[in-house]
Amino acid sequence: MAIRGPRPLVAGNWKMNGTTASLKEARLIAGMLKDVRLRCDVMICPPATLLRRLKGVLAGTPIKLGGQNCHWDASGAFTGEISAEMLKDAGCSAVIVGHSERRSGFGETDAVVRSKADAAHRAGIAAIICIGETLEQRKAGQAVDVVSRQLRESLPDGSASANTVIAYEPVWAIGTGLTPTPDEVGDIHSSIRGGLVAQLGEDGSQVRILYGGSVKPSNAPAFAAIPDVNGALVGGASLKAVDFIGIIKAYI
Ligand code: PGA
Repeated sequence: MAIRGPRPLVAGNWKMNGTTASLKEARLIAGMLKDVRLRCDVMICPPATLLRRLKGVLAGTPIKLGGQNCHWDASGAFTGEISAEMLKDAGCSAVIVGHSERRSGFGETDAVVRSKADAAHRAGIAAIICIGETLEQRKAGQAVDVVSRQLRESLPDGSASANTVIAYEPVWAIGTGLTPTPDEVGDIHSSIRGGLVAQLGEDGSQVRILYGGSVKPSNAPAFAAIPDVNGALVGGASLKAVDFIGIIKAYI
């Protein structure tokens, strides 16, 4: 009997983009997916200012809501921060942690990322943990080692397929239009799969591993066909309904 892989997830990360006018794109996405029998999960991670209103737009649709970052504590004197509990309260079922823009721009280490993933689990939402090598590391032949180390050190105790998603995002592919070859993606995803099974046992085979970095409607089918690619984390192309739908189509 064939063993079914995990249900794919296509998640859109709007980053620091979007005001009230952007809700129109979400309405279009919801409209286009109406009456479609989805064989993947779909999620939008807007800026925090839009969470509540997007929740309203997505009500009655299968599209889930996610946060882009969270603090590791549940509450307290951390001006400007948002906790995982607050994201859950706003209607999120997941939060992205350890995006490379946070690792490089805000000094987040694997230990910080682990504590944020732990916070997501504590709050009862899933952690989408991002890992990926820089161009220098890839050129030096260190991609597998770097990603394996980030996986080992960013995954908190208690991680399981029900509460954890891994997003492999080569830093040099994010927002650049550059992508690794399907073989390169396949090599990294299979090493991540091996690491997950080593850390989590059999359940590690059910953790979703997304590919992210310049995913577009034109290249999404090639990524979707790679073993152990269980969906996509999409930045720029998630801001336009037609592009995001074009990517989702690779998984339905
Ligand atoms: P991109 O971003 O699709 O614009 O390359 C991906 C990401 O940062 O998650």
